[in-house]
Amino acid sequence: MDIRVLNSSDAEQYKKIRLNALLSCPESFAQSFDFEQTQPLNYFADKITQSNQSFVVGVFNKNQLVGTAGVSRQDRLKRSHKGMIWGFYVDKSFQKNGLGKHLLEKIIDEAKQFKDLTQLQLVVISENISAIKLYQKYGFETFAFEQDALRLGQRSYNAQHMVLFL
Ligand SMILES: CC(C)(COP(=O)(O)OP(=O)(O)OC[C@H]1O[C@@H](n2cnc3c(N)ncnc32)[C@H](O)[C@@H]1OP(=O)(O)O)[C@@H](O)C(=O)NCCC(=O)NCCS
Repeated sequence: MDIRVLNSSDAEQYKKIRLNALLSCPESFAQSFDFEQTQPLNYFADKITQSNQSFVVGVFNKNQLVGTAGVSRQDRLKRSHKGMIWGFYVDKSFQKNGLGKHLLEKIIDEAKQFKDLTQLQLVVISENISAIKLYQKYGFETFAFEQDALRLGQRSYNAQHMVLFL
């Protein structure tokens, strides 16, 4: 297993796993499969290109990208000390092997290197108990509950907002 920050040369593999994530668990992500599947490769390359605003970490099994997690700094200056975690996903056939934990550890380490970033936040739907437990294991705490946070067709999902102070 290899874990590292992704770069634009990973765009093909990233596109594949990202679309798979959006298709297989749409309730876990704000972005939609229908939108992203129409996007060119550049769109995915841009998403994973590291800057002082964002980075995406990937975990590889025999050179195959099997899990991802991203962090983006909030773009308004007065909120730029906060990073949002997004796109946290492990391919179904590799789940429950500790890869999620490795990804979380790596993004926390990377976020600590980011100048003036003092907290990581995330939004998780309230019924995603295993993800919430995983975040709690790393010290994330719920600071807000949001009703009707996400709508998927006729279904509405409540969500928890969690934070980790770095
Ligand atoms: C959330 C997610 C990324 C976690 O990835 P993962 O690789 O399965 O995570 P881990 O294996 O590190 O740990 C998850 C659980 O498996 C358990 N586990 C780890 N290794 C295990 C093993 N060898 N055998 C059995 N269980 C194991 C962990 O203890 C943890 O259990 P818990 O839910 O009781 O806390 C993954 O489930 C996923 O992609 N889900 C769909 C997308 C999603 O919900 N993303 C989060 C959006 S906020």
